[in-house]
Amino acid sequence: MLVVVKKNHDEVSREAARVVSNMLREKPSSILGLATGTTPLDLYNELIRMYKEEGLDFSKVTTFNLDEYIGLPPSHPESYHYFMYENLFKHINVPERFIHVPSGMVDVSEVHRINRFCEWYEEQIVRFGGIDLQLLGIGANGHIGFNEPGSSLGSRTRIKTLSENTRKDNSRFFDNDMDQVPKYAITMGIGTILDSKVILLVASGKNKAKAIKATVEAPITSQVPASAVQMHKRAILIVDEDAASQLDGTYDEFVTNLE
Ligand code: GLP
Repeated sequence: MLVVVKKNHDEVSREAARVVSNMLREKPSSILGLATGTTPLDLYNELIRMYKEEGLDFSKVTTFNLDEYIGLPPSHPESYHYFMYENLFKHINVPERFIHVPSGMVDVSEVHRINRFCEWYEEQIVRFGGIDLQLLGIGANGHIGFNEPGSSLGSRTRIKTLSENTRKDNSRFFDNDMDQVPKYAITMGIGTILDSKVILLVASGKNKAKAIKATVEAPITSQVPASAVQMHKRAILIVDEDAASQLDGTYDEFVTNLE
């Protein structure tokens, strides 16, 4: 695991965008695993800038998003479908048919339908050749995607009940009204994420410091789902000084630049 510590959030975003763009230049038909949340927003803005100003090409790219809330239609401003189209897809030239975001339009009582959908999603990832680079944010409780603490490290795409902490954290996007925050989500599993060829986890801000400490310098545990990336062959963590503030910093793997 390589930990790259950058000065601030802007530098994290630029460095992470560079990793993604290098991969696309090397392999234009890359399969990208994408994430939502506020952290990757500036990284997406940088990719859009590269597309517009530097001709970064997404025409052969396939995307698979990590997760989606259950119960929100794609037109809902807080759905991850909406987020991805507004903040990335509609600004670049990725073909619509190569975009995959889990469907949140299922009824939680229709367990078989949800399971079938989750199996289909996993099959599609395999059919396209597997994810080349999986982008991850991290929840303050150490979740990745919507794999909440306690998620099995071998888990695959499935329905998850969101923890109270995560619902509270995300209530800021729902007028701080807990009643509006979905209770369930469909998420790639930790096993699904670990199958990606490269994992790129980005984090910034003091509120992520505890989770980053537990991810990097504590034993692997399902109580901190992100700690599973310690097992991955090519995991890159790009964090700002605030998010890195609880790390001991004695690792050889700590660098400030990738090149
Ligand atoms: C949500 C998403 C995660 C994301 C997390 C952190 O719960 N499901 O994929 O990493 O939020 O979001 P933020 O970057 O806004 O802190």
